[in-house]
Amino acid sequence: MPPQASTFANDVDLLYSFQIWASLISGVILLGGMFYFIWKYKRRTDTDKVAYITHNHALEFLWSFIPLVLFLAMFVWGAVVYYKQRNMPADGIEIHVTGRQWSWEFEYKNGLKSAELIVPIGKPVKLVMTSTDVLHSFFIPSFRQKQDVIPGRYSSLWFEATKKGVFQIYCAEFCGTAHSAMLSKLKVVDQKEFHDLMTGAGGEKSIADKGKDLYNIKGCVACHNTTDATKIGPGFKGLFGKKRDFADGSSVTADENYIRDSLLNPQAKIVKGFPPSMPTFQGSLEEEEIKSIIEFIKTLK
Ligand code: CUA
Repeated sequence: MPPQASTFANDVDLLYSFQIWASLISGVILLGGMFYFIWKYKRRTDTDKVAYITHNHALEFLWSFIPLVLFLAMFVWGAVVYYKQRNMPADGIEIHVTGRQWSWEFEYKNGLKSAELIVPIGKPVKLVMTSTDVLHSFFIPSFRQKQDVIPGRYSSLWFEATKKGVFQIYCAEFCGTAHSAMLSKLKVVDQKEFHDLMTGAGGEKSIADKGKDLYNIKGCVACHNTTDATKIGPGFKGLFGKKRDFADGSSVTADENYIRDSLLNPQAKIVKGFPPSMPTFQGSLEEEEIKSIIEFIKTLK
């Protein structure tokens, strides 16, 4: 097993060991029993009598009930580990991940971009990931974390590093010729070093500031206020993370994917009480720009 370097690693390993041992022990009992009975009840002479046995209630109950208990235990245990991994902490440090053929790119809130993922030890980190071309899968074996990275939408995962050091990142979804070379490193540094990095020079602009420019350049400003006041469309303030009610009666919590859909396919979900007049930005916004606008809206709390 690779070293355990996140808070999930031990959970996953325990569950995995349980499954391996349960399978191994059951396998030995089952196959061992089978071969033993083949040998023991072998017909030895032509006059050997064959016992007439139809069934045995107790035995049949047990060999159904014991596996049922084992499978239910694995299911419940697996679900607990899964929900812990999928339940994103609200105070996580967000880092954007872009997968492309054949590299990973990381961008931090301050606009700094890197080819290696740098995270602090002992703090929850949430990755918001997308792909500019085909399906990839972001995999950090030492953290026991893996998540598909999908073109056209955002997926996410989170972790908390427990060890400083450098860990391997793989792409775990076959994505073309150089799939096996789609590698990167994850560097776990102490909190002060990370803080210095984030408050240091950064990129030329923070992601949210780039989004603010786009808000003006692309004309969002014509219909949307940065306050919560309504113009032609809803105001942006407090929008992220809020429940949106739609004209068709459905509703959704405004997350990254919702804002993305609203930019690219605005007619799909019309917020109750507003005209369906938003034009699509499909083709006129780059992946990078969509991310920036989302980050800008997130800052308008
Ligand atoms: Cu990207 Cu395989």
